[in-house]
Amino acid sequence: MDYKVLDLKVFGDERGSLISLEEGRNLPFAIKRVYYIYDTKPGVERGKHAHKNLQQLIVCLHGSCSFVLDDGAARREVLLNCPDKALYIGNNIWREMKDFSYGAVLMVLASQTYDDKEYIRDYNEFLREIQK
Ligand code: TYD
Repeated sequence: MDYKVLDLKVFGDERGSLISLEEGRNLPFAIKRVYYIYDTKPGVERGKHAHKNLQQLIVCLHGSCSFVLDDGAARREVLLNCPDKALYIGNNIWREMKDFSYGAVLMVLASQTYDDKEYIRDYNEFLREIQK
């Protein structure tokens, strides 16, 4: 399955912590878009789609959130609960986000600008797409 959980290097000292995401070092693509999700309501689930042409690196900057990842053959669950952990997701992975903690902030770095046409929002269509 085309996903990875990366342990990010933390530059930390008595002043606090700093993490850098840099193309060619720990970021496997050039960033074209950044978005963030916050103020989620209790019990919400988000995502429920796949991308035909999009790589993403996701960091939970505050709080925690779970990702369910599915490539049509297997399902995996990844908990993001620390800003030094990043989830990379490649093409054609169905993802669902759930269990947002109160005040969770999710930052997403994306390899492409927003294009509604490259989304697959129907799970059966996703299964058909990955058979091709
Ligand atoms: P949506 O795909 O429902 O978010 P999630 O992946 O968390 O379930 O997106 C919510 C709205 O925001 C939807 O109207 C599309 C819009 N949107 C943009 O305009 N640009 C973006 O980069 C993203 C990710 C969403």
